[in-house]
Amino acid sequence: MAPVIEARALTKMYGDTIAVDHVTLSVEKGALFGLLGPNGSGKTTMIKVLTGQTRQSAGSATVLGIDVEHDPIGVREHVGIIPEQETPPSFLTATEYLDFVGAIRKIPDVQKKADGWFDLLEFDDQRDVLCKDLSRGTRQKLMFTQAFLHRPSLALIDEPLINFDPIMQRKVKDFLIGYVKEGNTIFISTHILDIAEEICSEFAILNRGTLLFTGTVAELKARDQHLDDFFLSLVRADRHV
Ligand SMILES: Nc1ncnc2c1ncn2[C@@H]1O[C@H](COP(=O)(O)OP(=O)(O)OP(=O)(O)O)[C@@H](O)[C@H]1O
Ligand SMILES: [Mg+2]
Repeated sequence: MAPVIEARALTKMYGDTIAVDHVTLSVEKGALFGLLGPNGSGKTTMIKVLTGQTRQSAGSATVLGIDVEHDPIGVREHVGIIPEQETPPSFLTATEYLDFVGAIRKIPDVQKKADGWFDLLEFDDQRDVLCKDLSRGTRQKLMFTQAFLHRPSLALIDEPLINFDPIMQRKVKDFLIGYVKEGNTIFISTHILDIAEEICSEFAILNRGTLLFTGTVAELKARDQHLDDFFLSLVRADRHV
């Protein structure tokens, strides 16, 4: 079976800056894949290219078999996306925003589907509040809801847990683990190595736009190695190259 995500020598330049430098990786169906890397290493840029939000400078990528350069709208139709630090429109309520997303994505019974999310993420009492007046964490709950309303077989999430309290983190981690068990695929970027170690099946380490490593968390565990030690040693060694 073809990988769900396949990037071949994917490269993105912003002027003279190489944000992503010839990255080749593939993500198989059912993976909970963690893209790790220091600040500015290219994680967000990689997600933007893979979701058709920005165009690569060189190389190619397919997502769900769709070429991201030739059909970025096709990719965005099929996947769930939570961009980095994104917030829902300030002038809509949570319910209105989900109606809006439901209309664009042509989701039947959108409010019934949304009810399940209001319950799961415990923000039913905020459904008629304008997004500008929601707390940061509640806005992230709404971003989660919009990404999963159409039950995408693949979701790409830039820093999924950063705004959540420990109770919500547990819920969302359990949700993500359950979602991939159903045969879906999740691609996250994160700085939080403990979370990656706990929930990811596979991971990749980016540094200065270059892929330093891809492997499975199980391999590390079998070697009795912690992800944070492994990450720090690889990134530090790369700094001295
Ligand atoms: N729109 C842009 N215009 C110019 N340079 C950019 C732009 N977006 C990102 N960059 C640069 O590309 C590089 C990679 O940035 P990116 O945001 O992808 O990193 P990141 O790994 O997501 O970082 P962080 O962990 O801080 O979120 C950085 O050098 C950044 O300054
Ligand atoms: Mg980022």
